[in-house]
Amino acid sequence: MSRRVLVVDDEENLRLVLKTFLKRQGYQVETADNGASALGLVESFGPDFILTDVRMPRMGGIDLLQTLKAKGNEATVIVMSAYGNLDLAIEAMKAGAYDYVQKPFKNDELLLTLKKAEERESLRRENRALRQEVMRDSVFEEMLAKSDAMRLIFRTIAKVADFKTTALITGESGVGKELVARALHGRSERKDGPFVAVNCGAIPDNLLESELFGHKRGAFTDASSDRAGLFEQADGGTLFLDEIGELPLALQVKLLRVLQDDTVRRIGDSRDLKVNVRITAATHRDLTAEVAAGRFREDLFYRINVLHIHVPPLRERREDIPLLIDHFLQQNNLRLGTSIRAVSPDARRLLMEYSWPGNVRELENTIERAMVLSEGDVLTEVDLPDRIHQARDPIRLQLSSGELSIKKTSRVIEEVLIRRALQQTKGNRTRAAQLLEISHRALLYKIKDYQIDL
Ligand SMILES: Nc1ncnc2c1ncn2[C@@H]1O[C@H](COP(=O)(O)OP(=O)(O)OP(=O)(O)O)[C@@H](O)[C@H]1O
Ligand SMILES: [Mg+2]
Repeated sequence: MSRRVLVVDDEENLRLVLKTFLKRQGYQVETADNGASALGLVESFGPDFILTDVRMPRMGGIDLLQTLKAKGNEATVIVMSAYGNLDLAIEAMKAGAYDYVQKPFKNDELLLTLKKAEERESLRRENRALRQEVMRDSVFEEMLAKSDAMRLIFRTIAKVADFKTTALITGESGVGKELVARALHGRSERKDGPFVAVNCGAIPDNLLESELFGHKRGAFTDASSDRAGLFEQADGGTLFLDEIGELPLALQVKLLRVLQDDTVRRIGDSRDLKVNVRITAATHRDLTAEVAAGRFREDLFYRINVLHIHVPPLRERREDIPLLIDHFLQQNNLRLGTSIRAVSPDARRLLMEYSWPGNVRELENTIERAMVLSEGDVLTEVDLPDRIHQARDPIRLQLSSGELSIKKTSRVIEEVLIRRALQQTKGNRTRAAQLLEISHRALLYKIKDYQIDL
């Protein structure tokens, strides 16, 4: 495939010479005599490379470059600048030019520069293709992940989605349990049916029963008309029982009945209604422990635990963090109208090291907050909340280092506590000693020992 080159120069002779030469080299060539007319050709001709002069009447090379970048055009620009105009060439490089050649140049010299650019261009294209491939592999319904643990979950979902088997999804808060439930629905034959989610912990016990099962008119004081419950509403689709660990025992019995014979009965009704609902349930609790404690029925537990999907906490699959960061950046840029393009390496390191007790939801909120606060177009350490900085605290680092010596570890902790106390009391040693619960004399000794400057 022959490459397209657009030559932009106000000197007619140069345009002619370059056109002839480059055509002989196998390129497709178009020419323009200034930036403004070049822009029109960029649209119609779609050049891979643009060779442009800097100084031209109407629109110069740097203006052209900036306009192209603003439009998101990806052509590789090489600037041709006259001897003595090095400053302009540098300015052009800053504006995003790939390289420059100094006029007057020999044809071979120009060709070499073009070849070099071409090589980079094909590398870039390969990279882009590779990235797209990785992305394709890392996206599953609304979830993004590249860790082995999550990919295994993706495969499991794809395999079992079509079965009506009840699935139990467990994992800490914010790991993505609801997204797993939605994916199970989205990948199944029921995907065009309803997906109804109910949080069993958020509805008062006395209302939950009629929410789930519906009621007949007059079944209780407030029941002024017949009402279908969520099971009926989810007919032909999926009912997602979130926080199933919070379901009261009385309702657990009723749920078990639905699971066993696919029928529900509205409160106050004497008829059973047939329903075709797939149940998925989620909990952040340890249901085996709940069973042992008598708070969750064992028979129901076995009935819903047929397929168990455990979503691991984010700190156990840190390789998913970069992907999620980039995803939330993009998402928020669209939603909030911000234009944050990157996260600084230091900030990224903090995000990678933090333990994320609130998992993906906490990461999502952290990124959003940082984007709102950020003053530039790159997120930096200062945009991250204190708790993430504190996670780098020397005591934690020491404790996770594997060091077993009590003596060495105590010294690290002691020094940190003393520095903190002195900071808090603005250097007041008497107050600091009180906070540390040591004598004033001991404090003075330790300040010297640890060489703490005040
Ligand atoms: N793999 C992922 N890719 C993209 N977004 C994710 C992923 N996992 C979680 N999220 C996002 O994180 C947030 C929390 O996810 P979700 O509500 O599914 O978690 P959960 O486990 O149900 O939490 P909770 O226990 O608090 O109910 C959501 O905004 C969700 O979109
Ligand atoms: Mg949830």
